[in-house]
Amino acid sequence: MADQKQPKSKYTLDRKIPGAFEGETVTRRRAMVVAGQAAGGVAAAAFILPTLGFAMGPIFEKQDQPWQSVGKIDEFNDESYVPRTITLVEGIGDAGKSTVYIRKYNPALDTEPRDEYNKYIAISTLCMHLGCPVRFTAAAQRFICPCHGGVYDIVGKVSGGPPVRPLDRFYTQLEGDAVVIGPRFSVNSELRRFSPRDPGEPLDGVGQYLYPSRPSMRKIKGTS
Ligand code: FES
Repeated sequence: MADQKQPKSKYTLDRKIPGAFEGETVTRRRAMVVAGQAAGGVAAAAFILPTLGFAMGPIFEKQDQPWQSVGKIDEFNDESYVPRTITLVEGIGDAGKSTVYIRKYNPALDTEPRDEYNKYIAISTLCMHLGCPVRFTAAAQRFICPCHGGVYDIVGKVSGGPPVRPLDRFYTQLEGDAVVIGPRFSVNSELRRFSPRDPGEPLDGVGQYLYPSRPSMRKIKGTS
C-alpha cells in the first residue's frame, strides 16, 4: 500500500522554517509583513477617505430647498443689505442654516435686467475661493472673507483676493408683501445666471464648460 501523505503541521518548527520557535504557527517575518500592510492600509485610508468625502459630499447636498419667507418688503432697502438666516438643508439644525444678505433691486447698482426673480437681491455668504463665510461690512460697502483676504464689492463682484467669481445668489420672489427666497444660483462676472457651481469654479470664458453643474443641481429658467 502506498504511503499515506502526512498532513502538514501548523507549527513552524515542525515545518523547519528558519528562526522558528516552538509553539509558533506564524513566523515573525510573516507577522511583521501583515502588520506592516495593515498599518499602510490605515495610513492610506486616513488620506483617501477625507478626500473622497470632500469630493463626494456635495453630491448628496440637497438642492430642492423650499422657497421660504425672509420678511416683509418694507424690512429691506435698496442701499444696503439686511442679513437673514435661511434653511438650506432641513432636519439637521443649525448645520443646515446659512446667512443671506438681502436688499432691494437698485438700478444705480444693479446692471443685470430686472425680472420676476430679482426684485430683491439675495447674496450668498459662501466665499467663491474655498467656501468660508463672508460678511458684509456696511462702512466699506464690501463683502469680506476672513480666510484669505477675498473682497467683493456691493453687488458681490470680486474686487480683490483669490475668489474666482462673484458671490452666488438666491432667487427671490414676492408673495403678497413678503419676500421669499428660493434656490441658489451662480453668476459670472457679468452677473449672468448659471445653475449652482462649487467654490473655486470660475464661470467666465471656458470656465462654464470646464466646470459644468452637477446633475443634482436644480436648474431654473434663465440659467445655463
Ligand atoms: S475662502 Fe474666502 S478668500 Fe479663501
